[in-house]
Amino acid sequence: ERSLLGLKDISRDEIGSILNRAAYWEAQSDKVVPVLKSKFAVNMFFENSTRTRFSFEMAEKRLGAEVMNFAAAASSVEKGESIYDTVRTLESMGIDAGVIRLKPSGVLQELAERVSIPLVNAGDGNNEHPTQALLDLYTMKKSFGELKGLTVSIIGDIKHSRVARSDLWALQKFGAHVQFCAPETMQAPELAQYAPYVSMETALKADVVMMLRVQLERHNAGVFKSSAEYREQYGLTEERAARLSGHTMIMHPAPVNRNVEIDDTVVESPRSMIFNQMANGVPIRMAVMERAMKG
Ligand code: CP
Repeated sequence: ERSLLGLKDISRDEIGSILNRAAYWEAQSDKVVPVLKSKFAVNMFFENSTRTRFSFEMAEKRLGAEVMNFAAAASSVEKGESIYDTVRTLESMGIDAGVIRLKPSGVLQELAERVSIPLVNAGDGNNEHPTQALLDLYTMKKSFGELKGLTVSIIGDIKHSRVARSDLWALQKFGAHVQFCAPETMQAPELAQYAPYVSMETALKADVVMMLRVQLERHNAGVFKSSAEYREQYGLTEERAARLSGHTMIMHPAPVNRNVEIDDTVVESPRSMIFNQMANGVPIRMAVMERAMKG
């Protein structure tokens, strides 16, 4: 039984075995293979989600687990109950593992040390989103065969992005070259020692162009005068997409601000992997939940 709190501190072999196991699950023709029969998983979302929450639930159900969902807005968190007391409450009822998404960074590690069930990070503040990065690596590996030597540009709101951080840590372990492109207000200076900041022109020459959502809910007003101005300078517009090399893959973790960081037509274009990423999230989360819960 193992937690998955982040990718920074786990080995390349460990990540590789999750990716391989995801390929096994993707190849299964039976939709339900009940290896987690009689196990109880709870998905605890203290911050909103569509993709991550539903693909964890889909993954758990496809493995035959009993699934419970916890949404902070409909719970005693509204009465002031802490995250720790909430997790301890569910643990005391006999759950076998918890998937957890948290608004603040830096509390998950301590929480995991204080409870005895495995915890799987579904996104903690701007720190890590390990299953998103695993599905990103899986998507790249499926198309390119191997990750070593790939150049991956991550463009946009790096500062607030747990996806950028998890992708950076994981891709570097496999010998991929990660570079960032962001306006100064959206840069994370502490990451500059790990990945260079490059111009938009340079960023677009990569094997993978990963666009990030402008996190309007985490920014103070006035970063850009308008969405149109952001699109003009940092958006993957139809015109920029047309100049990408023939093999370049377009990714985005979603949700997408259409016509802000990526044009509507580019989201729907054949080289966009955005919906493939979502599909790949299910076998990845099957592998992660099996690892966490199988006795
Ligand atoms: N990519 C991602 O984490 O999406 P959700 O916030 O909808 O889960």
